[in-house]
Amino acid sequence: MPQARIAGIGMYVPENVVTNQDLTKYMDTSDEWIQERTGIRERRYAHRDQETTTTMAIKAAEIAIQRAGITPQDIDFIVFATLSPDYYFPGCGVLLQRAMKMKEIGALDIRNQCSGFVYAISVADQFIRTGMYKNILVVGAEKHSFGLDFSTRGRNVSVIFGDGAGAVVLQPSANDKQGILSTHLHSDGESAELLAMYNPGTHANYWSPNQKLANFDEAEIGEMFFSHKMIDNAQVFPYMDGPAVFKKAIVKFPEVINEALQANGLAASDINMLIPHQANLRIAQFVQQSLKLRDDQVYNNIQHYGNTTAASVPIALCEAWEKGKIKEGDLVCLAAFGSGFTWASALLRW
Ligand code: COA
Repeated sequence: MPQARIAGIGMYVPENVVTNQDLTKYMDTSDEWIQERTGIRERRYAHRDQETTTTMAIKAAEIAIQRAGITPQDIDFIVFATLSPDYYFPGCGVLLQRAMKMKEIGALDIRNQCSGFVYAISVADQFIRTGMYKNILVVGAEKHSFGLDFSTRGRNVSVIFGDGAGAVVLQPSANDKQGILSTHLHSDGESAELLAMYNPGTHANYWSPNQKLANFDEAEIGEMFFSHKMIDNAQVFPYMDGPAVFKKAIVKFPEVINEALQANGLAASDINMLIPHQANLRIAQFVQQSLKLRDDQVYNNIQHYGNTTAASVPIALCEAWEKGKIKEGDLVCLAAFGSGFTWASALLRW
């Protein structure tokens, strides 16, 4: 059976622009520090009450579906990547299915954080290759602004993340020259706690920056999933060991891109456009240098949107395509690295 190709793509970012300067109202930081360390100038925050991860995903999906020349009723499977779901459960896939009045199709949520969209593309590609589905909606969406610590204590994480959504419709390719050539997925759980949000969770211990994973007091049994203590001690926010993430990312990004190139008998110089997960501009620049890619071979937009985790690859891909930077026949490489750690790449012929 033929591989999948991207038949339609869309993105949505909220209207509300939050600059680095705006963040200085809440925490001890500066535009200079954020730009120098991350490249980020501004990010978007969703409307507090009226926008959720799913509502943003719907806006991106509507565009992708319309560009594919189909209707929501033609979609026969949903793969939804997010780490910031509307509900702890059920997942966002079913909320999107309901809101877009789709048929009673399968809906799968993927919780792979920054690599979620590339994992999702890989899963969808397998279903297309087996002939099981013909119109798969793959979404990456995040509403981070609702769950960040905006005090100085959380500044190393909070300044990085932004909200948004991206979506693609995958269909079987008409020929073997076009579409997804291969996908490559990896994980190493050894450092799972270095970029994580521990609570609420089912682990029988709690996290604090100084104590790491400590046992609960006997008296707390019964309220472990989400305890008052967690809230009082601000243990309900994401934790990130930034330098550790940086060191691993700059090794694994080039590795998984090279793996994709080698699997297809291609070289880095053959890439027309690399879309790296927008983790941090310094990481993307490091990857560009190590692969010896020119500026026109890499697309970055973290400067305007921050790190939107599972949404960052489809948002960057969509924007690059809308700007005419990706044309039919181009070799496009998607690559991501993040919490888990997990990392992945997808090589496709546009
Ligand atoms: N504003 C001002 N100062 C800040 C700050 C902020 N927003 N965040 C942290 N700092 C301070 C720290 O408190 C620390 O101060 P100290 O030296 O007095 O203790 C100092 O800056 C350096 O902190 P450190 O964490 O060592 O900085 P860094 O150079 O590693 O940069 C990151 C921090 C997060 C930008 C960097 O580690 C990084 O980009 N890591 C990768 C993160 C990433 O990509 N995450 C997404 C994964 S998909």
